Amino acid sequence: MKVFINDKEYNANPDETIIELCDKVGIHIPRFCYHKHLSVVASCRMCLVDVEGVKYAQPACSTPLRDEMRVSTGSEKTKIAQKNSMEFLLINHPLDCPICDQGGECELQDISLEHGDDHSQYMQFKRVVVDKDISPLISTDMTRCIHCSRCVRFGEEISNVKELGLLNRGEDMKIDVFIEEGVSSELSANMIDLCPVGALNNKPYRYKARTWDLKQICGISPHDCIGSNINYHIYNNKIVRAVPSENSEINQTWLSDRDRFGYEGIYAKDRAEKTLIKVDGKLVEIDFDSMSHQVNDLISKNIKEYGQENIGCLISGQSTSEEHFLFQKIFKKLGITNIDHRTKESDFSYQDSYPIMPSLGCNLNDLKKYKNIILVGVNVKTEYPVLSIRLNALAKNNTKVYSFNFNSLEENFSLHHKQIITHDNIDLFLNTSNFSLENGETLFIIGPSVSRSPNQSSILRKISEFSSSIDANIGFLTEFCNSTSGWLLGNLPHRELGGGKPRQIGKNSYEMIKSHLSSYIFYNLEPEFDFFNKQDLEHALDTSKCNIFFTSYITPIIEKYADIIIPITTFAETDGGYINIEGTYQTFQPIVQPSKNIHVGWSILNDILKLNNLGDYSIDEIRGELAESLDGLNFSTPVSDMSDINSNNDMENVIVHDLSRETNETDLIVRRSESLRQVSLMNKKINNKNIISQSDNLQTNVTK
Ligand code: SF4
Ligand code: FES
Repeated sequence: MKVFINDKEYNANPDETIIELCDKVGIHIPRFCYHKHLSVVASCRMCLVDVEGVKYAQPACSTPLRDEMRVSTGSEKTKIAQKNSMEFLLINHPLDCPICDQGGECELQDISLEHGDDHSQYMQFKRVVVDKDISPLISTDMTRCIHCSRCVRFGEEISNVKELGLLNRGEDMKIDVFIEEGVSSELSANMIDLCPVGALNNKPYRYKARTWDLKQICGISPHDCIGSNINYHIYNNKIVRAVPSENSEINQTWLSDRDRFGYEGIYAKDRAEKTLIKVDGKLVEIDFDSMSHQVNDLISKNIKEYGQENIGCLISGQSTSEEHFLFQKIFKKLGITNIDHRTKESDFSYQDSYPIMPSLGCNLNDLKKYKNIILVGVNVKTEYPVLSIRLNALAKNNTKVYSFNFNSLEENFSLHHKQIITHDNIDLFLNTSNFSLENGETLFIIGPSVSRSPNQSSILRKISEFSSSIDANIGFLTEFCNSTSGWLLGNLPHRELGGGKPRQIGKNSYEMIKSHLSSYIFYNLEPEFDFFNKQDLEHALDTSKCNIFFTSYITPIIEKYADIIIPITTFAETDGGYINIEGTYQTFQPIVQPSKNIHVGWSILNDILKLNNLGDYSIDEIRGELAESLDGLNFSTPVSDMSDINSNNDMENVIVHDLSRETNETDLIVRRSESLRQVSLMNKKINNKNIISQSDNLQTNVTK
């Protein structure tokens, strides 16, 4: 279809609107209510443009193009129409830009400067809207609201959690919360980005800096395996804010609240900032420069005294791929086979039949090819909020989503069938009568509650047998953001880098803890939360002869049992990379500089490698070798058969209990985010209130 914009000819698709084509070819049209991911309401009238042959200017966001249409985005008619709309929009706006956090990045400010007038005919008092404290994450100045309804449509269409609504009409129209307690969903802060004025703002960032003073560096989410792209904003070497970095393949334009506010955890009070060594039962500080020698001497001494088989090496699935690469390299070359990253698991009979790494089995954009998606052991809403946006869109588009989980947590998309796995139905839930799969391809997505189950092998075998019988594929969602690297790079007792078999099989994490080894080396792990059984771990730490902790935080257990504490960088202070659940390796650079006594994680591992004459790498050399050793591996192929899993546990003996994680409490950084902790408290209050009101209803019914 041939159309003319400003007298230039363009080819347009049949159902394209004027604004869509103009955005595609780079012609600017001002807008407030329009957003490419939201439905079109055409309420603000800011996008009015001159269409040849039509008496009045037309909204570009809702006017479809037709053959031979001629549009002018800069004619006098367009300019007057846009100026008039601007004047109406500013009638009640307080024009308080100097004290507004949105100043400098405000769509209203920019558009009024470009398309508005410098005076108003409106001489009456402006209306004022009283503010409410709606969330620990979002501050409101509702007098600034221009009623574009983007925030409302986000809740209705994208997150599927209706938290804000438009109340009343005319002069009394206002945005307000649906539930009195406020806004607390896992994606709520996306409304801050959507708001084109300063009505909804980032509360923890409030008055911290002006936007033009910020430096922006792109990072990758360390909080889930989706790998959302994030722009961190830095002021005086401190992260003050995080916003989404658009990536249409991964997080589109969205970010979970966890990804947005998790960075607060790097400024926690218990950050490890000194290298400490235990002398006469007390931790004393040692010199920064001699630290690598001291750690290396300690490791050599342990190997000599207790033998390699009595040393256990454990690394977090949240560590970077570069750290994973060096960690396995050092300890495998030193002859240690007890290496693992799966610290929250206890049943490992599945491990020989497991794919080379856990993977979703397809790209996120390709999920749409599946007509049936069966979730097992995962609550997407709380554990992978950004993924829930995609599943919501798929569920609306006729994909049948099923959920089988150990708890009753709600999802924010419609489920075709939902079942809580209990002792009575564990063997029965994989039953064709629970599904209507006749309409196309099927994908199982196995979540972290399965991997943390003491009988995960039985469950995996059962799913594998069933999926083979219905010709379905299997994909995974992992507990940590980079468990993929743990598998792929060989931080396992039974596999080498790239999936090869080692000469000797070592102990898995559970065996290491249970068998009370002489010495343990922990990398980036929090003993209080990152292990299958905290009591067992404490017992093992108590009986061991030496405990070495590479850590970003000093927790009470670390303080009590550590023989040496090496303070290491978090994701924000180092070069690194994560392999997301699609198999995409995304790298990042340091966002801020660490304080002077903190060691860069990969660099200290490299020092140990060097001291043992086992190699010496730059970050680029690590990445080069890492990419070389993984080249040609097809780890994104969906798994279809794991039925040869060796499982000693029959399904009847499967231990069923609620393995769900507390909302927002996923990793050691998120746990320390004060804003997210407040949201968590708010959610608990809402849940308690719901329980009380449900029991009130019950009592009323009983009385009746
Ligand atoms: S609060 Fe912001 S996003 Fe919501 S309607 Fe008002 S201006 Fe639009
Ligand atoms: S952007 Fe078109 S009417 Fe609001």
